[in-house]
Amino acid sequence: MQANSNRQVELPPAGKIRRGPPSPNPKKWVYFGFLFMLQLEIKNLRVAIGENEIIRNLSLSVGVGEMHAIMGPNGSGKSTLAKVIAGYPDYKVTSGEVLMDGENLLDLEPDERARRGLFMAFQYPSEVPGVTIANFLRAAMQSRLPEGEELEATDYYAKLYEKMDLLEIDRAFTSRAVNEGFSGGEKKRCEILQMAMLDPRYAVLDETDSGLDIDALKIVANGVNSLRGPDLGVLLITHYQRLLNYIIPDFVHVMVQGRIVRSGGKELALQLEEKGYEWIRDHAEEPVAA
Ligand SMILES: Nc1ncnc2c1ncn2[C@@H]1O[C@H](COP(=O)(O)OP(=O)(O)OP(=O)(O)O)[C@@H](O)[C@H]1O
Ligand SMILES: [Mg+2]
Repeated sequence: MQANSNRQVELPPAGKIRRGPPSPNPKKWVYFGFLFMLQLEIKNLRVAIGENEIIRNLSLSVGVGEMHAIMGPNGSGKSTLAKVIAGYPDYKVTSGEVLMDGENLLDLEPDERARRGLFMAFQYPSEVPGVTIANFLRAAMQSRLPEGEELEATDYYAKLYEKMDLLEIDRAFTSRAVNEGFSGGEKKRCEILQMAMLDPRYAVLDETDSGLDIDALKIVANGVNSLRGPDLGVLLITHYQRLLNYIIPDFVHVMVQGRIVRSGGKELALQLEEKGYEWIRDHAEEPVAA
């Protein structure tokens, strides 16, 4: 009887990466249940823009401490997924859930998501004229502190300069307006600077490597790697295997037509590079329409 009641603990649905079989020991069940909570969990998500369904029953879990890469052809819905996680208003979630450590993100405003530790680096970062990087980051960090607590200016600038040095960003950038007139590569570095300053629990990085020259790619990868650890889960969207030589993912997922059609380890990115997406369409774990 007791063994049966143990089965009520929710297991990850098929298609997800399983992190070992469940234990018959009730104490371990509780432990496993707790572990499953500490993740960014996308469950059976469907998203439409107007009449057009972009995300089609997508499920994916990013555990805290894990690095997941998503690859996939242009237009497969990768940025749409990222924006829905962040709370972009244009998309209609028709079904499914996005849970962060068990809490439904879809019920929260974008700023509430950020305050709880979600960070999003955009594929096309917006310019914020009139707001300097220093003031922007200071306001963002201040807004995450408990009411009545003041961000200490000396500590703030010490951290800012430390992270700017790490990402090899000239200090003159502190007084420039966010992304205004930045080169493509400078924008991407600035996104990672924001991530480094905000210490998120989960970060979604959408093509953070695009537009970077070879040296900048290594610097940005180094910046992301320096933030890696047991308290950060990352969903990294990229087209290029090359980035994954520097930021080594724990898992790689392939998204085609709004769904994850294949998941594997870092070797999957190499296979993709060699064989292309046609091979994935032919060998998808989930059926893919032509
Ligand atoms: N606001 C919008 N209005 C209409 N269609 C949209 C909108 N946003 C996204 N789409 C469509 O949704 C599909 C998925 O777009 P998305 O940007 O998510 O793809 P992606 O996988 O990120 O592609 P890429 O690799 O080129 O960045 C595309 O066909 C795109 O045209
Ligand atoms: Mg995109």
